[in-house]
Amino acid sequence: MKHKDLINQMTLEEKASLMSGKDFWQTMDIERLGINSMFLADGPHGIRKQAEAADHLGLNESIPATCFPTAATVANSWNEELGEKIGQYLGKEAAAQQVNVLLGPGINMKRNPLCGRNFEYFSEDPYHTGKMAASYIKGIQSHGVSACVKHFAVNNQEERRMSIDTIVDERTLREIYLTAFEMAIKEGDTKTVMSAYNMLNGTYTNENQHLMQEILRDEWGFDGVVVTDWGGSNDRVAGLLAGNELEMPTTAGETNIDIVQAVKEGLIEEDVLDENVDRLLELAFTTEEALQKSRSDINLQEHHQAAQQAAEESIVLLKNEDQILPLDKKKQVAVIGDFAKDARYQGAGSSIVNPTILDQTLDSLEGFGIASTGYEPGYNRYGKKSTSAIQKACELAKQADVVLLYIGLDEVTEAEGLDRQNMSIPENQIDLINALSEVNPNIVAVLSSGSVVEMPWIHKVKGLVHAYLSGQAGAKAILNILTGEVNPSGKLAETYPLTYEDTPSYRHFPGKEVSVEYREGIYIGYRYYDTSNTEVLFPFGYGLSYTTFEYSDIQVSQSEVTFNLENTGQVSGMEVAQLYVGCQSNEIFRPKKELKGFTKIHLHPGEIKTVTIPFDDKTFRYFNVKTNKWEIEAADYSIMIGASSADIRLEDTIFIEGSGAPLPYQKEKLPSYYSGQVNNISESEFEHLIERKIPVSTWDRSKPLGYNDTIAQCQYAKGLFARFAYQSITFAHWFLRKIGKRSTANLIMMSVYHMPFRGVARMTGGIINMPMLDGILMIVNGQFFKGLKHVLKERRKMVRIRKGKEVADVTEGV
Ligand code: BGC
Repeated sequence: MKHKDLINQMTLEEKASLMSGKDFWQTMDIERLGINSMFLADGPHGIRKQAEAADHLGLNESIPATCFPTAATVANSWNEELGEKIGQYLGKEAAAQQVNVLLGPGINMKRNPLCGRNFEYFSEDPYHTGKMAASYIKGIQSHGVSACVKHFAVNNQEERRMSIDTIVDERTLREIYLTAFEMAIKEGDTKTVMSAYNMLNGTYTNENQHLMQEILRDEWGFDGVVVTDWGGSNDRVAGLLAGNELEMPTTAGETNIDIVQAVKEGLIEEDVLDENVDRLLELAFTTEEALQKSRSDINLQEHHQAAQQAAEESIVLLKNEDQILPLDKKKQVAVIGDFAKDARYQGAGSSIVNPTILDQTLDSLEGFGIASTGYEPGYNRYGKKSTSAIQKACELAKQADVVLLYIGLDEVTEAEGLDRQNMSIPENQIDLINALSEVNPNIVAVLSSGSVVEMPWIHKVKGLVHAYLSGQAGAKAILNILTGEVNPSGKLAETYPLTYEDTPSYRHFPGKEVSVEYREGIYIGYRYYDTSNTEVLFPFGYGLSYTTFEYSDIQVSQSEVTFNLENTGQVSGMEVAQLYVGCQSNEIFRPKKELKGFTKIHLHPGEIKTVTIPFDDKTFRYFNVKTNKWEIEAADYSIMIGASSADIRLEDTIFIEGSGAPLPYQKEKLPSYYSGQVNNISESEFEHLIERKIPVSTWDRSKPLGYNDTIAQCQYAKGLFARFAYQSITFAHWFLRKIGKRSTANLIMMSVYHMPFRGVARMTGGIINMPMLDGILMIVNGQFFKGLKHVLKERRKMVRIRKGKEVADVTEGV
């Protein structure tokens, strides 16, 4: 232990006190030993340090900070150097704001396009995510502050996020859902990890020994700190035993008492507590040292420019019929769409940043030499239909050579705590596209959304630029792409299926009651579409450029692949070359191809470069559920170099020696997994995969409600009061939506509806404690008066104890 001497001077109570927050964002301090608080702040694409009123939903304003494009956007850059650079800026701003731990990057896999937080995550591919995450972490930590990779793990839906049980087989867990975390830890060397709210195969992630001890600590050698997601602690003692050093936010000392008691009763050895304290102190001291050296003078313009450059490299050109782009500056352009006036540039929830500067398209047009015939909003941002808005837009469009149409999802639709209801853009925008296409065939659409949308309207536009959520400088970045000042080089880091029903998990997303079954197994994203030959709108890795690239001369050795790349067009540009590997044996089921490397190369017209992509420990490995280890199958492997997952330009075969492990599966028991047709897996086949019975997935409506049941379950409660409360909540939600207050309605879903009762105690900073919660549950379960009496008694007790403590503190001070 590094801080043994210091720990030896602590009382048991002091040690326990360090294991949870002091308030919403800070850890406990111990003045007499010179231990200061650490400040933890969101988030992944900019600092959200709340100086005053604190919340985890992005409600109260934070200190201004540079709002970089969100992870879903930067993922399209496929540029690790860029990721590191953004990380450096984030780290610098965090240090300047005296933030010890920056709560990001978020690296959960995009299992389903409707997950409400997809805009905060990188990709549907673990290797791609792992590389980008590691680069962010290196950048952030270069300033001495700690990154905090989140949410560990299998946190892929927002519905019932604090209680849902994820049922997933071990191989899928390792290959798909944990690989990016493994890379963030081994390559990025993150100092902090945030455990996820949900359960994994029956145990809360924070208490899950397999995840937290066997994998994170023993296998990956992680020696940093694990922090709970806010309010995500269930059983504090079980969490501590699994190696969770820090519970956030504060519980006003309630769970410290649990820890002290557990030590006294011998449930936790004091040595184990000491080790947890030691790791926490190491984080506190090392980050504090960096904060003392940090500079507070940030060149905001420089950071804004960096945010613009990040957006420019991440915007994806999806369609360019008749070479309508770059825009011909001699042409008259009609600018249509509310997002042109009021940019859609980030998502909602805990990641929300208060930007230092915010560029808007309409204010910037002139500087880009675009001759505009005028502007019309064309639609109501939040979906209300208006024929007159469409008519006015059409009138304007008639007078122009080109229509520049800004469309997408609004900020209320893509939000933490809520999954999207469908994969479409609002109907009023589709009506607008249809109407505009009748009066002007030259439409260039700029799409802003942080996640995948269906595009049945795509044949009505000639140009399509996907800006994703491009941050505070996104407007100018988009204009640079449209005018050709910057040649687009972004490529999609997720597949765009034709319809939502094509997605492999759509029958099992989201889990609505107890659990969610990952029946599609390892086949998420392109792994599924490709293997099952399902046609898609845009494949993973796809993106156009204003120039063309030619690939030639592939050479494969045991350790790398080399090829030539030439810019065969008229302008300079950057190409993302992707390495995919496919195993030719069918002894073990596998996706047809998997991403195992990538590189982004800049080339002038006519320039040729020799490109090398090295193989690594992940190139040929698969997780064998029999040996419980990563193994290599002796086989021929296809080595493919592609401009996208569906556009393979070069291919060769190589034989790789195996590790000699026994085959893990009985083929005949898993026919759908062997064929890749996994969108309708039967119960029995899934049971073969997970090697156990599928746990009951529905609520037992006859049982009294407990700590981990949610407020939503009050609809089945015995207590009249609870059922009335439920009706009031659903009415308030319905009513707020009806009167157009969608964001307030969303808040009800996020912070009340899906909240487990336990969360009421964990999130109120000691206003309601667990014994009071017992009383509340009595009321909920039909014992109104007994429950009320209990709540009042416990409340009085709590106040008495606190007062007593205050007196003791004052006396001690005297
Ligand atoms: C989110 C985390 C976030 C935390 C603190 C939680 O609700 O899931 O991603 O870091 O709040 O704001």
